[in-house]
Amino acid sequence: MKRALKQHVESLAQMGVTHVPRSKIKPRAKVSSQPAVHEPGEPRSADPENLMAEIVKEARACRACPLYKDATQAVVFDGTPRARLVFVGEAPGFEEDKQGVPFVGAAGQLLTKMIQAMGMQRSDVFICNVVKHRPPGNRTPEPDEAAACLPFLQRQLAIVQPKLICALGSVAAKALLGPGISIMKIRGSVQQYAGIPLVPTFHPAYLLRNPSAKKLAWADLQLVKRLIDQPSDSSG
Ligand code: URA
Repeated sequence: MKRALKQHVESLAQMGVTHVPRSKIKPRAKVSSQPAVHEPGEPRSADPENLMAEIVKEARACRACPLYKDATQAVVFDGTPRARLVFVGEAPGFEEDKQGVPFVGAAGQLLTKMIQAMGMQRSDVFICNVVKHRPPGNRTPEPDEAAACLPFLQRQLAIVQPKLICALGSVAAKALLGPGISIMKIRGSVQQYAGIPLVPTFHPAYLLRNPSAKKLAWADLQLVKRLIDQPSDSSG
């Protein structure tokens, strides 16, 4: 318990937070993201884990754009498909391509600290990218590459049906809200994607290059936390 508290305080410090009001942190029930055990030939149930496993299989075989040619593997998601909160990034980088897990490099370590500073763990949320194969040299994905991969992201969001989506950076925000948006103008606001509230914020890689923006990102994440902790409207 002491170690968890220490880790939380360190995460807040990494985010540039030196003071936090007392708040209640509600632990969430742990749900495994592993597909259920399944015998060959047996029909799979349509639960979120199995549906997500199907997307993993299809993304691994995807040839809709040329990015697969230089990539080691498709990087599809981390966390739980039953999450209330989804983080959407841009595309896998060097470490993600090697490990097959999104957000595990330097920017990913900052994202992990941001999640911990919100009182959660990576296993409580769902983490994915617009583009599933690493663009060579970590370049920004081209609009046609993002468009070719978008159906996977749309299906992932339809499976998870989160309470809120947090778009990390311009590529994610544009993929989900339209190419005309400016991340600088709309970060920290509540937008809508397919009837789901969406809060855009800075990409963690941008925060590594511009640490003074961490304060604004922390304000955005506090808004995200408030919204996901709000009781759901049961009237409709
Ligand atoms: N940047 C991203 O946008 N996604 C990752 O998975 C890693 C770095």
